[in-house]
Amino acid sequence: MGVVPAGTAATAVPATTATAVPATTATAVPATTATAVPASTGRPYVLLSCATSIDGYIDDATQERLLLSNAEDMERIDAVRAGCDAILVGAGTIRADDPRLVVRSARLRAARQAAGLPPSPVKVTMTARGLLDPQARFFTVGDAEKVVYCAGPAVDRTTELLSGLATVVDAGDPLDPVRVLADLAGRGVRRLMVEGGASVHAQFLTAGLADELHLVVAPFFVGDRRAPRFVGDGAFPWHPGRRARLAEVRQIGDVVLMRYALSERCADGVPG
Ligand SMILES: NC(=O)c1ccc[n+]([C@@H]2O[C@H](COP(=O)([O-])OP(=O)(O)OC[C@H]3O[C@@H](n4cnc5c(N)ncnc54)[C@H](OP(=O)(O)O)[C@@H]3O)[C@@H](O)[C@H]2O)c1
Repeated sequence: MGVVPAGTAATAVPATTATAVPATTATAVPATTATAVPASTGRPYVLLSCATSIDGYIDDATQERLLLSNAEDMERIDAVRAGCDAILVGAGTIRADDPRLVVRSARLRAARQAAGLPPSPVKVTMTARGLLDPQARFFTVGDAEKVVYCAGPAVDRTTELLSGLATVVDAGDPLDPVRVLADLAGRGVRRLMVEGGASVHAQFLTAGLADELHLVVAPFFVGDRRAPRFVGDGAFPWHPGRRARLAEVRQIGDVVLMRYALSERCADGVPG
């Protein structure tokens, strides 16, 4: 993995000076979704993953994290994670859910290591304000590299805040997902899993930066407009005049997975 290692102090790295390293081969991992992405295609292959209620909510309005997926689907998600070089969530998801974002299966971690990869993918987040808790599990659980893409004005204090925990990258102002992807590519990330939340998913979708969407629908309603939905308003590239391509529908216990191919880079029929 080509991410600049976080040393004893958090390192502020201008995105433009990231050192290109040979891309790793997530394809060597026996995860069912691993897809070879030629380095020449530029940005990493971007796979969005999200679970919603029947009425399209991704959480409820309480402080507690809402469990939408079931155990079997969590295993599937674990395998998808294991097939990626990096996992990205927004700072809002770190604050709301305190996710670990590590590969849970010992078998999958061992397979990654046998392939010369770290046990879990690099953890990535984006923040404008840099208000991240150094005690969050994003930073404290697992040995994966952590990269924080931070808007320029907050870089210094974020670097100080996350000293020793993460590599803080100055991603400009405003922070641009295109720039984040270019920097990740330069760090050897070929396959990126984006696990939310609403703001981050919307940005990747509206910017046309998503190759594949895994949308899981849980069998219940939330019915509370205070809760976040999958995405809010936006000019999405898929609309009644340009329908997305449904690559797969799969029942997983009591939830259903819909896999949408959002670019030509997504191969139909590849199980996820
Ligand atoms: N059901 C699911 O599959 C799922 C998955 C993940 C999350 N969720 C839910 O999603 C909700 C969180 O969603 P959210 O929209 O509030 O948060 P989010 O998308 O996780 O993160 C938004 C935050 O990320 C930073 N950010 C995003 N784009 C940026 C950009 N271009 N430039 C600078 N900073 C940027 C900002 O952080 P700063 O505020 O630090 O500047 C922003 O406030 C939670 O309720 C969570 O439970 C659900």
